[in-house]
Amino acid sequence: MEWKVVLPLLSALFAAASSGMPGGLSDANANDEGVRNALNFAVAQHNTRSNDMYRHDVMEVVKAQTQVVAGVKYVITVKMVKTGCRKNSANEQCTSQTSPSKTQSEPEVASFGGQIPSSTLQDPLAGNQSFTETDPYCVAQPVWKINTGLSGKTAKSMKVLNKEELLTAEGVLLKHLPKSYKIYGFLYGINRDKPSTLEVIVDQWPDFKVIICRPDAKNERALDFMKKVSLYSTDEKILRKVLREENAIDWSTYFLIGGFDFSYAPMLREISSEREVNNRDYTLVRLLYLPDISFLLSPAVDSELESRVSSLNLSHVDLVNKTWKFGGNEQGYRNIKHLISNFPSSCIMDVQGQPVAWMLAYDYCAMGILYTLPEHRGKGYAKVLVSTMAKKLNAEGYPVYCFIEEGNKVSYKLFQNMGFTEDISYRAAWFEFNF
Ligand SMILES: *[C@@H]1O[C@H](CO)[C@@H](O)[C@H](O)[C@H]1NC(C)=O
Ligand SMILES: *[C@@H]1O[C@H](CO)[C@@H](O)[C@H](O)[C@H]1NC(C)=O
Ligand SMILES: *[C@@H]1O[C@H](CO)[C@@H](O)[C@H](O)[C@H]1NC(C)=O
Repeated sequence: MEWKVVLPLLSALFAAASSGMPGGLSDANANDEGVRNALNFAVAQHNTRSNDMYRHDVMEVVKAQTQVVAGVKYVITVKMVKTGCRKNSANEQCTSQTSPSKTQSEPEVASFGGQIPSSTLQDPLAGNQSFTETDPYCVAQPVWKINTGLSGKTAKSMKVLNKEELLTAEGVLLKHLPKSYKIYGFLYGINRDKPSTLEVIVDQWPDFKVIICRPDAKNERALDFMKKVSLYSTDEKILRKVLREENAIDWSTYFLIGGFDFSYAPMLREISSEREVNNRDYTLVRLLYLPDISFLLSPAVDSELESRVSSLNLSHVDLVNKTWKFGGNEQGYRNIKHLISNFPSSCIMDVQGQPVAWMLAYDYCAMGILYTLPEHRGKGYAKVLVSTMAKKLNAEGYPVYCFIEEGNKVSYKLFQNMGFTEDISYRAAWFEFNF
């Protein structure tokens, strides 16, 4: 295609200061697919924003540079020309209708600078989705924006673990207990073929420093459950880099990060505000665990009570749902159904065979959802349930631990009195994002 050109006064809307920028940019081939995609995107944005009736296009790429950090940074210098095409007529023949007054002018040199995660560039359709952030060195106007939330796509450098690797990772996490309990617990379940809608990603393999469980966007049932992400890391710097620069988490809709090391809270708040996503504390908890089953101090249980100890089944989902403080919606209900169907549970029945107290295990294998109907309290049922569950979990090879909300002194005392240990160097938190 040819255009009779030209215009001089294309205001350098997007002139990027190429001096004073931190190092690391290197020359790139103008025919590189990433460069071409970035440039197409920038030019389209440029045309959208300009007041000119005619479309401007690239005549020649003078210089293209990229830097692989935070996705890919591009600085591209081009000669721009005004085409004969009106912006609003897509299929017009562009060769003849040049604006007469400007035909003698030289092409305008323009520089575009911007930053795009590589995964966006690989997917042409992703080009116009949920952009929120501008690159700091685009002087005048946002040129390209960063797509902050790509669900269902793994950034190039994050690795999704396969079956065999999940087993290996479980072994690694075992050495990092107690802080790694939650991810360890998820892997424990997945590795024993518990149905799961999660996928597990790491920063590198096999020496991973960051491991994340997140909803698997390819799993149709993932939306049936709350969007929860869990993470464990041995290196805060790398965790920060992963959360800032990779599409490890889909930030585009509501989600929870659950059970993370509370010392990461300032970092998570900072990254969340960088991504212009709101956040709030959901809950802060203590981690208690049983280092060995021999630590367990079980209550005495007479044979009458013993005969009323049982497990929950699907006919009890409604009952548990109604009393669970974090339940209450469709997703919570499904979660309870999932837990009762696939993980150990424990309950105490009344003489009619109806549960009056119960305890479940979450999909990350922590004990939880301990509840006694009000009229049956004060009979020591909670102790019986904790003891029964701890033995059951231990016998089946599960980790034996729980999270107890800060301020829930009754539960804390209960577990402590039964031999559970707290890692006092550690608090775990649940944060909500994008609510
Ligand atoms: C791109 O934007 C258009 C117009 O808003 C929209 O109809 C289309 O669905 C978007 N494409 C994608 C892949 O989101
Ligand atoms: C679960 O319990 C909540 C709170 O009592 C209730 O509003 C909701 O309808 C229940 N869900 C189902 C599916 O029964
Ligand atoms: C579930 O447990 C109840 C006792 O509360 C029992 O009557 C019922 O038969 C059980 N249902 C199934 C499907 O096992």
